[in-house]
Amino acid sequence: MTQSVLTDFSNRHTELFGRHTVNLGHTFAASPLFTDDALASLIERAPAGSYHVNTMDVTTHDPRTRREGIVDGLSGAEAIEAVRRGHIWILIQDPGRYDPQYSAMLRGIYDEFEARMPGFKSYKQKLSILISSPKVQVYYHADVPGQTLWQVRGHKRVYLYPNTAPFLPQDALERIVLGEAHEISLKYEPWFDEYAEVIDLAPGRMLHWPLNGPHRIVNADCLNVSFTTEHWTNDLRNAYAVNYANGIMRGRLGAKSLSRPESGPGMWARFGLAAAWKAAGMQKARKHHFKVDFKVDLDAPWCVRPIPPFDLTR
Ligand SMILES: [Fe+2]
Repeated sequence: MTQSVLTDFSNRHTELFGRHTVNLGHTFAASPLFTDDALASLIERAPAGSYHVNTMDVTTHDPRTRREGIVDGLSGAEAIEAVRRGHIWILIQDPGRYDPQYSAMLRGIYDEFEARMPGFKSYKQKLSILISSPKVQVYYHADVPGQTLWQVRGHKRVYLYPNTAPFLPQDALERIVLGEAHEISLKYEPWFDEYAEVIDLAPGRMLHWPLNGPHRIVNADCLNVSFTTEHWTNDLRNAYAVNYANGIMRGRLGAKSLSRPESGPGMWARFGLAAAWKAAGMQKARKHHFKVDFKVDLDAPWCVRPIPPFDLTR
């Protein structure tokens, strides 16, 4: 068995994984793929505009303050220095496109999951690296695929909430699955925190939580380097199809009370409806248009220099 990724996996985690929060040790804090030099080189190899640069208000929870920017005319080292000094993050999706070592790393992770958890079969795995400033926040949201967060450098506080109403209303989840609502459009109330699992994540720890579980993240006062891995399994795909079909039935056909079958004819009927709806092109392809209104600038307050807004499609 490959044992190069997880340091304290035990039999119980096979039963917990996907159903409850799993908090495990890993070896990536010592990986040469996440040093300043490696990340600077990755930023320089990624085409400008191919990665997300964001800023947001770090003092309140207000998703409307999140803005999209660009890195332009900076070296990779300068971009990382801006993250260290500023209030921004750089999100590099699919870094294996620019350096095959990251693809090999992603394969290694899922090979080890599969070796350790009999019956676990995943596909469409995806890696994203987040380099983020002291104190920045990832606002309350829910992701569509299975999600794991791996902390490599720095410290962050992660709040994990139950994946049911009122934290995740069923109709809100369906709109996210249908691509009609942005993940961070999910309603958040400060009192939700009383029902959250609150975990301080240190380098060398990872978290995996139940499907679609809402979460939010607050960086400690230090540069953070983390990455997420996403995956699908047959069970996750079936849940997606059921939510997708229920979303269509609720939104377009006016159905109110909808069950969520996990198997049997009800599940397969929904699976068919979701597939047919997509095949018929009735759900528009998810758009990725962004209004960019700042550039990263080491001389600007929090390294955020306002620029005339323009549209960018990623
Ligand atoms: Fe997330």
